[in-house]
Amino acid sequence: MQDVEGRVAFVTGGCSGIGLGIALAFARAGMQVVATSRRRPHLEESAARFAADGLDVHVMQLDVTDPDAVERAAAHTERRYGRVHVLVNNAGIGIIGPVAQAKLADWDWIIDVNIKGVVHGLQGFLPRIRAHGEGGHIVNTASMGGLLPVSAGLYCLTKAGIIALSETLHIELAPENIGVSAYIPGPVHSNIGSGAAGRPERYADSGYPPPRPPDPSRPPPRLPYMSYEEAGERVLQGVRRNDLFILTHPEFRDGVRERAEALLNAFPAEPLNEERAAAITFLTSHPVYRSYAAKEPPGPPVPLRQPT
Ligand code: NAI
Repeated sequence: MQDVEGRVAFVTGGCSGIGLGIALAFARAGMQVVATSRRRPHLEESAARFAADGLDVHVMQLDVTDPDAVERAAAHTERRYGRVHVLVNNAGIGIIGPVAQAKLADWDWIIDVNIKGVVHGLQGFLPRIRAHGEGGHIVNTASMGGLLPVSAGLYCLTKAGIIALSETLHIELAPENIGVSAYIPGPVHSNIGSGAAGRPERYADSGYPPPRPPDPSRPPPRLPYMSYEEAGERVLQGVRRNDLFILTHPEFRDGVRERAEALLNAFPAEPLNEERAAAITFLTSHPVYRSYAAKEPPGPPVPLRQPT
């Protein structure tokens, strides 16, 4: 979607971290944005920031694990703006720790937010985006953990699933002029660390120790992560380019290549069964990958100037 000005976007988790960066980038590009948050303090802080920057962002409290609430939010957005063009399924949580230590509540929480939250977004918004026929775009926030699942297995499971889902959806919706991107960032400054502290009561029976509250006597380490603003600009760029994969951190390129090589090397070293190959061509490749493999990679995003 090259021409984003005036388009309406709905960004889950759009009041904190990466989602806030996306909402800022979209609004600065002239889009009308709805940004949601589960936690009220982020809602209030970001509403004040959007207003101070003179940006057209409407904030809304929303728990993406509640399908009825997501449906109501979609209906509200449509009533308010007439139509919705862009959905960013960005709300997410991180659970870090060995898989063997997880209890069912840990699995339930991360799957409910990181996978079913995306499902609910699609259920609520996709029929509305398809109905107006003006085209649109869906961004699903995954993670490099979905491509290099070397730790935090519960989290990586959800993010790998979101990448796979986005690829299928991209293929399915292309004929309707609806782009779909898997957004796959590396480390970005955000509140994801404290997200685990807001664990709802129904998921309380965790196998992991509660997150340690920050020690006010010790300043947090200054980590050289990407800013959430830059992470948001890269999403805007990916939407404009209609990218299948929106990647942010070239530091992961070698690791992803090694994993892809390990996969290729695991195919049995034997001749193809030509009859079987001919019967399953619809499963064994897709032109979408060739077209993106031939596409010019993105450069750094051009940051948009804030309105004065
Ligand atoms: P964050 O904690 O700053 O933002 C997460 C947002 O999701 C918050 O607005 C929170 O209210 C919302 N959220 C959480 N549970 C929710 C629920 N049940 N219903 C509605 N909203 C809910 O964290 P961050 O890092 O900005 O995370 C955004 C996305 O980016 C997540 O999907 C995360 O997995 C992903 N990501 C983050 C990376 C990082 O280094 N920060 C790297 C790769 C991916």
